[in-house]
Amino acid sequence: MKQIFEETKLGDLTLKNRLIRSATWEGIATPDGGLPEEAYAIYDELAAGGMGAVITGFTSVALHDDYFGGMMRQYDDALIPQYKRLTDLIHAHGTPVIAQLALGAYYRERNGRYVQTEPDDMTMEEIRLVVRQFVDAAVRAEKADFDGVQIHAAHFSF
Ligand SMILES: Cc1cc2nc3c(=O)[nH]c(=O)nc-3n(C[C@H](O)[C@H](O)[C@H](O)COP(=O)(O)O)c2cc1C
Repeated sequence: MKQIFEETKLGDLTLKNRLIRSATWEGIATPDGGLPEEAYAIYDELAAGGMGAVITGFTSVALHDDYFGGMMRQYDDALIPQYKRLTDLIHAHGTPVIAQLALGAYYRERNGRYVQTEPDDMTMEEIRLVVRQFVDAAVRAEKADFDGVQIHAAHFSF
């Protein structure tokens, strides 16, 4: 029988046990998706505590996505060093880390304001933009040394 504290594989990743920290939104990132010291402390504690792998809280692929306050974000290359610092400290405990990529909701720009838009109301161009945002965020996650991404496909309604 498989044992919880037995080494296991998740795709190409080796996990020291079968415990995975499920994605959990902390709501503490800065409005642009930057990470405060508290975020590093939370993830360091999770990895030091012995998780086999860690999945981040949902990390928006867009800047103007205010569905959940304090979401982490991967919409800009300038944020990569902050996320690299996060993966480095988790990896230091021998723990893989997966970025959960999300779009809480799509916000369309109207007269300088961003207004939440129903999915049914989105144009093909907007849908293609969102697909592109997920791809770009996944590339950034790889550059920041995440071991994988998890696509969060929920919420997004009034
Ligand atoms: C405060 C809080 C934040 C959460 N944030 C996320 C999230 O960012 N992404 C996600 O997919 N699930 C999120 N979840 C769901 C959890 O990952 C988990 O699936 C859920 O709590 C069920 O697991 P449990 O039965 O062990 O509590 C969140 C749950 C809670 C309570």
